[in-house]
Amino acid sequence: MNPTDGNGRPRFYRNWISLAGSILAAASVFAFLLLFAIDLFAHHGNPYMGILAYVVAPAFLFLGLFLIFGGLWLQRRHALKAGPGAVSPLVINLSSVRDRKTLTVFVACGLVFLLLTAIGSNRTYHYTESVQFCGQACHEPMKPEFVTYQHSPHARVECTACHVGEGAEWYIKSKINGVHQLIGVMTGEYDRPIKTPLKNLRLAQDTCEQCHWPQKYVGNLDRTYTHFLADETNTPFTVRLSLKVGGGDPTHGPVGGIHWHMNLANKVEYIATDEKRQQIPWVRLTDSKGVVTEFRTEEFKDDPSKHSIRTADCMDCHNRPAHHFRTPNDAVDLAMASGRVDPTLPWVKSNLVALLVDTNYTTEDQALSKISTTLREKYAGKPQLDSLVTAAHNIFKTTIFPEMKADWRAYPNNISHKDWAGCFRCHDGKHKTADGKRTLKASDCNSCHTILAQGAGEELEKLNPKGHTFFHIDAPNEDFDCHSCHTGAFPK
Ligand code: HEC
Ligand code: HEC
Ligand code: HEC
Ligand code: HEC
Ligand code: HEC
Ligand code: HEC
Repeated sequence: MNPTDGNGRPRFYRNWISLAGSILAAASVFAFLLLFAIDLFAHHGNPYMGILAYVVAPAFLFLGLFLIFGGLWLQRRHALKAGPGAVSPLVINLSSVRDRKTLTVFVACGLVFLLLTAIGSNRTYHYTESVQFCGQACHEPMKPEFVTYQHSPHARVECTACHVGEGAEWYIKSKINGVHQLIGVMTGEYDRPIKTPLKNLRLAQDTCEQCHWPQKYVGNLDRTYTHFLADETNTPFTVRLSLKVGGGDPTHGPVGGIHWHMNLANKVEYIATDEKRQQIPWVRLTDSKGVVTEFRTEEFKDDPSKHSIRTADCMDCHNRPAHHFRTPNDAVDLAMASGRVDPTLPWVKSNLVALLVDTNYTTEDQALSKISTTLREKYAGKPQLDSLVTAAHNIFKTTIFPEMKADWRAYPNNISHKDWAGCFRCHDGKHKTADGKRTLKASDCNSCHTILAQGAGEELEKLNPKGHTFFHIDAPNEDFDCHSCHTGAFPK
């Protein structure tokens, strides 16, 4: 056979390597189209689909092209070396049994390969949508969020339900983000800790409110906060609150409470002067009748229009619905209250908190070994020693992530006001209207919740439906500045 085509050019595209390359290239184009179609019709956009469709599939396309040209090059080199006419081109002679067999095998393999590509793409697609993928595939950067998520009330809600939601715009945004994150993980260039609040988090209406009906009547929630002091006997100190969450649906209960005032009757906008939205010097309220009231702190004299104004939604209070990083103080209290740590061990509260807040840890392993050596020294011979070490390790592993620098210090929780400013970012009595007549402060400690009981033992049985005056350990305290002393570790 003549190794040149009809026009006298050599026919180089006649070798098995180039042919295999073309099949690979065709399969990757096919996989790309398929993935694109699946994702287009899928319920939730999948942020990591972008990786498959726009990174993995093209990578195979390039490999295919590489093989095609590689084959061409080898063939050409062979031809040049052997001199003109010596090229053994690819000849398929359908009347030859051997060629027919080879061709059948080749076509069959090609078809099987396409089929496997289809099945593989589909399976991979579903895998990337799963919680395991989000939390575990890029293990290190997502570990803190994944672990805290598993211990949250949303442990069975898919990551994508809060982080992507539905609709084309967010679908595309999440794709771009997914590719960006993949590159970050591959190059190791990502923030430690991951920065918060998330700038690209979707509005609560499109995520939270798909499951939580905003008007729903919640009524009062009875919550008990069990604490132990950092003294030798770990003196218990418990507060029992009735939180006035309320609701906005008059057919199911009286309208009012925390939810009503914030989201349902009013629109609340604010300016935060720091990245973490902890400093809020300016608040604007628009009530249901359209009356606008501005509150600001004395220090804030700027023109509000020079700042970016955010409309408050669920996430301004509930910013840790799935990733709550407990403070060492709360985590140890919880372990003691639930019996995992024996409160009769002297100084145990204080010792555990001190081990957890140590800032010298760079890895989890290092922290765990320091925790066990210290505890084994301090409580040598105690029968509770092993369970104490296990409990301390569990607290560390579920709340503090030194590799990612992720813990309560990096992620404030805005739902309360004890360890962070939380509600008191606005309700601190320092936000006033221009005439000074109205102050943004809930009237007293029993306006958002009723302090039903406090203290320990018999004290806790003295329930007061009107609310007690807060008795701070041994003295009354109505000061709204809790977080200036309480920082999640030892109070100042
Ligand atoms: C119930 C809703 C919800 C679910 C489910 C959820 N998240 Fe989040 N996540 C949030 C919110 C709200 C924030 C942002 C907090 C902020 O901006 O202050 C967040 C923040 C994050 C952050 C940024 C770091 C941080 O802690 O602020 C990462 C990373 C993250 N989530 C990953 C995940 C992963 C992985 C999953 C699934 C294993 C998941 N999330 C499931 C609501 C959710
Ligand atoms: C896919 C549905 C779904 C989405 C989306 C969702 N949640 Fe939830 N949420 C749940 C379920 C289920 C529970 C658990 C209910 C229970 O325990 O009775 C829950 C519980 C809660 C609770 C009560 C927590 C507790 O301590 O018991 C809060 C607060 C909450 N969600 C806030 C949010 C916020 C804020 C968002 C948006 C960032 C959100 N949810 C998004 C389904 C969802
Ligand atoms: C002003 C702050 C604030 C805002 C804004 C807010 N919440 Fe709440 N919400 C609370 C507090 C406080 C509680 C009770 C304590 C807790 O859950 O930790 C609560 C409780 C809840 C609960 C738990 C009810 C239960 O039975 O356990 C859900 C669910 C909830 N909120 C959903 C929402 C959703 C959805 C939005 C947005 C539409 C929202 N919240 C906006 C402060 C707020
Ligand atoms: C961004 C600022 C801001 C934050 C943060 C905030 N609030 Fe408010 N809150 C307001 C404004 C503004 C009003 C309306 C005040 C008025 O009507 O004078 C209000 C009103 C209320 C009221 C009704 C008060 C009354 O006297 O009738 C309650 C209850 C309330 N908030 C609870 C909370 C709780 C609980 C939190 C924390 C989880 C919180 N708020 C966080 C701005 C805020
Ligand atoms: C603006 C509303 C609001 C006001 C005003 C308010 N609280 Fe609270 N408080 C809350 C909310 C919301 C929580 C916790 C919700 C949660 O943990 O989910 C809370 C929690 C607490 C707790 C339990 C914290 C813990 O971890 O043990 C104590 C104690 C407490 N408040 C005392 C007070 C005192 C004392 C005052 C008056 C100085 C006060 N509160 C005023 C909203 C308020
Ligand atoms: C001047 C500093 C200071 C202020 C302000 C303050 N506390 Fe405390 N608080 C302490 C100290 C010190 C302890 C004792 C801690 C110990 O022995 O573990 C304590 C203990 C507590 C405890 C029990 C133990 C624990 O750590 O959980 C609670 C609950 C508490 N405070 C709530 C509050 C609340 C709510 C406010 C705001 C209304 C507040 N505190 C304001 C210093 C302060």
